[in-house]
Amino acid sequence: MSTTENNLQAIIAHAKEYGFVFQSSDIYDGLSAVYDYGPYGSELKKNIKDYWWKSMTQMHENIVGIDAAIFMHPTTWKASGHVDNFSDPMIDNKDSKKRYRVDHLLEAKADALTQAGEAEKAEELLAKMNALLSTEDFGGLQELIIAENISCAVSGTKNWTDVRQFNLMFSTQIGSVAEEADTIYLRPETAQGIFVNFLNVQKSARMKVPFGIAQIGKAFRNEIVARQFIFRMREFEQMEMQFFVRPGTQQDWYNYWKETRLQWHLSLGINPDNYRFHNHVKLAHYADAALDIEYNFPFGFKEVEGIHSRTDFDLKSHQEYSKKKQQYFDTEINQNYIPYVIETSIGLDRMFLLILSHSYAEEVIPKEDGSTDSRVVLKIPAVLAPNKLAILPLTKKDGLPELARELMKDCMPHFKCYFEEKDSIGKRYRRQDAIGTPFCVTIDHQSKEDGTCTIRYRDTMTQERIAISEVKKLVLEAL
Ligand code: GAP
Repeated sequence: MSTTENNLQAIIAHAKEYGFVFQSSDIYDGLSAVYDYGPYGSELKKNIKDYWWKSMTQMHENIVGIDAAIFMHPTTWKASGHVDNFSDPMIDNKDSKKRYRVDHLLEAKADALTQAGEAEKAEELLAKMNALLSTEDFGGLQELIIAENISCAVSGTKNWTDVRQFNLMFSTQIGSVAEEADTIYLRPETAQGIFVNFLNVQKSARMKVPFGIAQIGKAFRNEIVARQFIFRMREFEQMEMQFFVRPGTQQDWYNYWKETRLQWHLSLGINPDNYRFHNHVKLAHYADAALDIEYNFPFGFKEVEGIHSRTDFDLKSHQEYSKKKQQYFDTEINQNYIPYVIETSIGLDRMFLLILSHSYAEEVIPKEDGSTDSRVVLKIPAVLAPNKLAILPLTKKDGLPELARELMKDCMPHFKCYFEEKDSIGKRYRRQDAIGTPFCVTIDHQSKEDGTCTIRYRDTMTQERIAISEVKKLVLEAL
């Protein structure tokens, strides 16, 4: 196992042990590519949502939010193109019956070439793949897999079927009687809930182009190859924003959102070297330009967010299928038009994995006597940390817990605090490090005499003495 795989395995184990992420239906041996978030995971996830939501709807006067239903009229997905186009080229191994996404097989081969020091060959292979994907040359893709000598990881054979397209949408039935029931889909993206509400929102909130509609919600995709923990899931959450602009201005807004979204990531204090842009070669059926913001995960640079210039494709298509006009009257230029759209779309679960990857550290700590100690710490940005402050009375007696509880009462309404009086202070610090609490405060006997306490900073492990009355202000400033 490589170091990076080790790192991912260590993160997965840590996430389970400390209540961040569990495999769904764990007691039944789990459900593939579906995950549950535990006590600290659900806090972290909510904090990421809030950070994004605030940046969109509070920090932009011209962006409002909605919360649309997961179920939508089935024609939505015909209009959006998902019924006809939302598919990936797949290939089956005839011996193992295992199905693979063609691009995943070829990317894995390119990774192997890079690791073997043949980076140039890997580049060539990816270029060939992209060219074949963009022309939908399935025969060519199958030939490439055979020419590259790629075998099935399960059977070990190269006995492949033709390359075929498989739709990724989950379907279900709506209606009480089976014969009358209609097939509907679990939404594969939240965006369509925004498009079908374009005029409802524009009119009710009196929005003027350019303006945006933001939404956070579940999306579902029947991913064939589900891998890398919460990176590729069958049920996941998206944070999407559709920004409606005057036709002809889309390139400027595309550049604006590309930079603005990168700055959002960097505002969390994440190393800029771990980010890069990747321009799409093969564009989705709705886009005239698209790029990924990629992050350097433990398994390499991968997409965390997409910026798409979606033209007027979606609104135009909904107008056609619904026979309801989706036009906007622009009073500045006295014209009716269907707005163009720039979309920013980030996977909440991928952002969660990004934060864990950025935060997870195994550290060796030199001690005064020359020996060493070690710790696992999550250096989660303070604004996202599940607990902001741990309040730790040194002992369970002498009135220390009561004094600590007073501080707890003062801080609880403002940010999430954690109270613990069991075990040695050292052990308690380690537990808080492991869940990423940025500040720990110890209340000791001196606290009773002079109203001070020791505050310990997670990342540096340095400590200082401050007035108890200063704690709330100090934490709030850090947030
Ligand atoms: N509305 C546009 C759209 O859905 P996408 O690139 O297919 O575009 C957007 O998805 C984001 O959703 C991705 O950048 C990724 O972060 C997240 N995402 C997509 N599929 C996912 C999956 N199977 N599991 C987790 N996150 C996923």
